Amino acid sequence: MHAVIISEPGGPEVLQWIEVPDPQPAPGEVLIDVAASAVNRADMMQRQGFYPPPQGAPAYPGLECSGTIAALGEGVAGWRVGEQVCALLAGGGYAEKVAVPAGQLLRVPQSTTLFEAAALPETVCTVYSNVFQGARLASGETLLIHGGGGGIGTTAIQLGKHAGAIVAVTAGSQEKLDACRELGADILINYREDDFAERLMEATGGHGADVILDIIGAGYLARNLAALAPDGRIANIGLQQGRTAELDLSLLMSKRGTIMSTTLRARPAEQKASIVKAVAANVWPLVDAGVIRPVIDRELPMRQAGEAHRIMTASSHTGKIVLRTE
Ligand SMILES: NC(=O)c1ccc[n+]([C@@H]2O[C@H](COP(=O)([O-])OP(=O)(O)OC[C@H]3O[C@@H](n4cnc5c(N)ncnc54)[C@H](OP(=O)(O)O)[C@@H]3O)[C@@H](O)[C@H]2O)c1
Repeated sequence: MHAVIISEPGGPEVLQWIEVPDPQPAPGEVLIDVAASAVNRADMMQRQGFYPPPQGAPAYPGLECSGTIAALGEGVAGWRVGEQVCALLAGGGYAEKVAVPAGQLLRVPQSTTLFEAAALPETVCTVYSNVFQGARLASGETLLIHGGGGGIGTTAIQLGKHAGAIVAVTAGSQEKLDACRELGADILINYREDDFAERLMEATGGHGADVILDIIGAGYLARNLAALAPDGRIANIGLQQGRTAELDLSLLMSKRGTIMSTTLRARPAEQKASIVKAVAANVWPLVDAGVIRPVIDRELPMRQAGEAHRIMTASSHTGKIVLRTE
């Protein structure tokens, strides 16, 4: 098969589409003939050498894919060869074939193409496990989503609105804020022009955000805390502006606040399977019905993964970038 390898840590030019050995499905795994994968910010970090794959995961980048089941490993039940699926991966999506634990498979939703389905597993599982299972967002609460125009952001807006939340977003351009509004966001904040915490407090009459989905980390910690409502929950999933910051515990205490932080990729396969199962039961019917849809910026051939990484590094995309094997 062909796969995108990282020839050495570096810029987008180190991604090379070359011939490599086919993977084999281990017991409990399924082999997928990959139709498409999609780009996640973690892939840039892996390419630069800062985010090695977990032990036992394929070396190639790619945290999600869609395709057709080519073979079943020993002991796999409930799936059949020839079935179209998408999957949450620990790596290896940028390839023509990938082996994945059967618990991380989802069927292709009725409302999407096979290619579009590749853009769903990583963001839907991340948002669902953090905003709903972790932070327990409830109807009528205010959800603040940083980076509303990104892959995570466009998914979180739709899921938040469907759950009956008031959705606030930050983004760095009017174009992305317009896209967020079209997806249903209620409060639009350009973080380049305004202090998001002040704007959110104004817009919510001093209440703040009950849940904050944070991808920025250290650079936003103090302002996230300032923007947090009483009994609020901050779900941190990214460190785009650093990992170390001072925390005012007195303010956290007075708000009875919670800060949680997770990374999906490093979770054991059993936890991923449990999240995928919950997503299949609670989110997939909404995707089938077209209520939740993947927002696709563009589709590129997988051999042009380097170009996709340049686009994501420049943040000129809205939603997801899909990589097709053909
Ligand atoms: N922990 C986990 O399990 C997990 C799983 C998936 C993703 N993530 C993380 O989630 C983040 C988003 O991933 P993604 O794939 O959705 O990437 P993405 O599509 O590039 O989205 C990131 C968005 O953040 C915006 N942004 C950049 N700086 C910002 C700032 N200071 N304030 C507000 N927004 C800002 C960017 O565009 P503009 O600046 O133009 O608005 C962009 O739209 C990444 O940090 C990724 O590592 C974590």
